[in-house]
Amino acid sequence: MTNKLRIGVIGAGSISDQHLNAYRRNPRAELAAVCDKNADRAREKAEKHGVPRAYADYRELLANPGIDAVSVCTWNDSHAEISIAALEAGKHVLCEKPLCTTVEEALRVEQAAKRSGKTLQVGFVRRYGANTRIVKAMADRGEFGELYYAKASCIRRLGNPGGWFADKERSGGGPLIDVGVHVIDLCWYLMGRPKAKSVSGNTYAKLGNRANVQNLAYYKSSDYDPALNTVEDLANALIRFENGASLLVDVSFALHAKEDELSVKLYGEKGGVELEPALTFVTERCDTILNMTPQIDHLSFDFASGFRDEIDHFVEACRGGEPTLSPVEDGVEMMKILCGIYESAEKGEEIRL
Ligand SMILES: NC(=O)c1ccc[n+]([C@@H]2O[C@H](COP(=O)([O-])OP(=O)(O)OC[C@H]3O[C@@H](n4cnc5c(N)ncnc54)[C@H](O)[C@@H]3O)[C@@H](O)[C@H]2O)c1
Repeated sequence: MTNKLRIGVIGAGSISDQHLNAYRRNPRAELAAVCDKNADRAREKAEKHGVPRAYADYRELLANPGIDAVSVCTWNDSHAEISIAALEAGKHVLCEKPLCTTVEEALRVEQAAKRSGKTLQVGFVRRYGANTRIVKAMADRGEFGELYYAKASCIRRLGNPGGWFADKERSGGGPLIDVGVHVIDLCWYLMGRPKAKSVSGNTYAKLGNRANVQNLAYYKSSDYDPALNTVEDLANALIRFENGASLLVDVSFALHAKEDELSVKLYGEKGGVELEPALTFVTERCDTILNMTPQIDHLSFDFASGFRDEIDHFVEACRGGEPTLSPVEDGVEMMKILCGIYESAEKGEEIRL
């Protein structure tokens, strides 16, 4: 390895800009190549960020010995294949969430990571947010006591991005695997990663993508096609852990809700905490309940600094510093939970993991 970690970014769509911007400002990283199966997109993205090489086939990028590490920012159905090939080519991997679309794939990625001895970091970017780091440090010091209950919602009333996100074949599912993965992981991580024992979930496809709605803007993927939608529009679940803790979650792409909602709340024996919508600590002193607001720059997750911190951490992990905060094992565990929820919804019964 030269002094700088030489990076290839595979998948040049929306999220790749966050990766490219963060690598660009990291003095220990150097952008070497961009790849997208859409060759024009790869070329344009390389030009925009001043990256010297553009590829249309990720295998060619991986064959370049001048690349030490890659970010995988492609559709979910190619995460496992590309991550395994990259590890086998001797590259470190930062794989966007979700790790992949099935437990079998996840286990194969884990084996490839172990065999290669390279770093595989899962893109659980919310773990790297300032608000999460503060709560994690407090949880590790026992400030909340045992965190035995968590509740998370990520409700979009109108927010099916369309394109591959709405195609189960390429995404692996709808809001549960796309945004549920973030909030479930966040709660599970802060609860101390207890072993999940069982899941009971429901999915609904009642409203479709609500492409008929006018006068309200929402994010659409680059290749939006309203005719295509094979994913759920709502999912909910109760996850039980071996230590007795539980997590309740609901997420949607479409729902007759009054407004969008993002909330992540954890409750412990000595205190509680709300990470979203705004970091707040709740406790009791002298027979009085206190709600406390920390004085920090962003009380909610800040996208740009979250990605910068995630990528700075990845670069250091690849350079032999601390092991990654979001290792492949956690990606595997998350796939067991997510796939368990889909299985439970399909069978209409609780699933033991
Ligand atoms: N961490 C986050 O907060 C966050 C936010 C958005 C998206 N994501 C994840 O990032 C990934 C990409 O999402 P996006 O919003 O950028 O999607 P996007 O559709 O904007 O971009 C994906 C790109 O990948 C390319 N691609 C697909 N398969 C490929 C392959 N085999 N080889 C080369 N290129 C390929 C597509 O042509 C497209 O340009 C997804 O896994 C998504 O879940 C994460």
